[in-house]
Amino acid sequence: MKFFIDSADIEEIKQANKKGWVDGVTTNPTLIAKNGRDFHQTIKEICKEVSGPVSAEVISTQSEEMFKEGLTLAKLADNVVVKIPLIEEGLIAVKKLAAEGIKTNVTLVFNPLQALLVAKAGGTMVSPFVGRLDDIGQNGMAMVEEIIQIFRNYDFATEVLVASVRGPLHIEQAALMGADIVTVPYKVMQGMTQHPLTDKGLKMFLDDWNKLGKK
Ligand code: G3P
Repeated sequence: MKFFIDSADIEEIKQANKKGWVDGVTTNPTLIAKNGRDFHQTIKEICKEVSGPVSAEVISTQSEEMFKEGLTLAKLADNVVVKIPLIEEGLIAVKKLAAEGIKTNVTLVFNPLQALLVAKAGGTMVSPFVGRLDDIGQNGMAMVEEIIQIFRNYDFATEVLVASVRGPLHIEQAALMGADIVTVPYKVMQGMTQHPLTDKGLKMFLDDWNKLGKK
């Protein structure tokens, strides 16, 4: 299972990368805006730090413009993946980019049929948003399970990238289902390391060791 960090903050990405938690990066316009720095410069810096795929999202909503934006983004670095929203025009752009050998990540996916269309268009990755479905009282991980089942049934090469992850349970469920990738905010990654018995056990070991040293 691959771990991507969902962030446009280079310092955060470096911290996570040091710990071996970064097989790739996903960004989106909200994360780029929050970061407040130049979009293309930020993507270039991230691509230097990380050897795996780095998703950079287009802003246009017309296929021809999306295609052109995708070509420009793909030129920023070899590991750029063009992120495209799941709209009809987006699927046209995905197909055209695929024909040029450019990798894509189709975002804002909220049901298995949308994911099926991504696979048909030749998308490299598909991003079902689990947290945002949970937020409206639906079951985000049930959607992921169905997508994985459909892709297995037909041997589609498109990778399932679980996005909008809100906590460690989403990650555990994604791993059990066999999702290819999860993209995770840094805070949630850090949360995965935590267990009260780990802290308690370590304190006990060190206390015992120190008592021995005093003899
Ligand atoms: O990058 C896309 C996705 O992970 C956004 O998550 O938390 O804004 O729903 P969230």
